[in-house]
Amino acid sequence: MKLAGTVALVTGAGVRLGRAIAIGLAEAGCHVIVHYRSSRDEAEQTVGEIRDLGRRAEAAQADLVNPDEIQRLFRDIDTSFGRLDVLVNSAASFERRGIEKITAQEWDDVQALNLRAPFLCTRHAAPLMRGVEDRMTQTGDIGAPGLVLNMGDHSGITTWKGFAHHGVSKAGLLHLTRVSARELAPSLRVNAIVPGPILPPAGESEDSWKKKGLRVPLAHPGEAHHISSTAVFLAHNDYITGETIMVDGGEHLLAGGRD
Ligand SMILES: NC(=O)c1ccc[n+]([C@@H]2O[C@H](COP(=O)([O-])OP(=O)(O)OC[C@H]3O[C@@H](n4cnc5c(N)ncnc54)[C@H](OP(=O)(O)O)[C@@H]3O)[C@@H](O)[C@H]2O)c1
Repeated sequence: MKLAGTVALVTGAGVRLGRAIAIGLAEAGCHVIVHYRSSRDEAEQTVGEIRDLGRRAEAAQADLVNPDEIQRLFRDIDTSFGRLDVLVNSAASFERRGIEKITAQEWDDVQALNLRAPFLCTRHAAPLMRGVEDRMTQTGDIGAPGLVLNMGDHSGITTWKGFAHHGVSKAGLLHLTRVSARELAPSLRVNAIVPGPILPPAGESEDSWKKKGLRVPLAHPGEAHHISSTAVFLAHNDYITGETIMVDGGEHLLAGGRD
């Protein structure tokens, strides 16, 4: 897909990897909707940086646990941008709790944000993305399929103790990637990135993060640009769908799970 003039929505784009992906897509030519839930100042800062690149950018607030707020988010995008070409489902929680302690509510909350929200966002994105393709076909251009990009996690592939609800949500997200890639083709492509240790979670010491980095075959943590450059690559390449790319310093090569 040629990215100049296209429109991307990145969820959780005020901070961390979502922010890096939003800026990476803007550098590659996209106008960007910077979604946030509570990081308003950070989202406005991301918007400012994207506008400085000469692209259009708007911050958009929504609690993605609430299906009505997701619907409103996409209605607003339709009204103000009138198209959508790239959706990055990056917003997620990262909850640690033993299986015997997880309550029904906690289980549901994690699935609602990490799995149901990407599903609902994909559902609302599909007609907007198809609209772009239809208009291009009418003008004789070959319409490039829109891209949905889901942010997975190794906890959805291997077994981490203490992360059952998180891991199951991320396993579901990787399967959602494959089933939606098949069902929504040829108008949409759906892919996933599985990051390894890129940015430490809140509360993790520098020392312990370095040690986690040393455990992967490439022997150091990755950086946010490793993820944003992969997102840009997947947006450009129109012939990849249903694929999961591990950007993890080789973590997937290690046998067994991790504690
Ligand atoms: N960091 C890593 O090294 C790593 C490794 C593996 C996988 N991943 C995956 O990559 C993605 C990004 O990771 P990250 O570490 O950069 O993210 P993060 O620090 O976990 O950030 C969470 C993001 O989710 C948003 N969010 C939380 N609850 C929300 C809700 N109810 N509604 C809407 N948005 C909500 C937050 O928005 P506000 O701040 O605005 O509230 C924030 O932008 C995640 O899907 C994560 O699982 C990351």
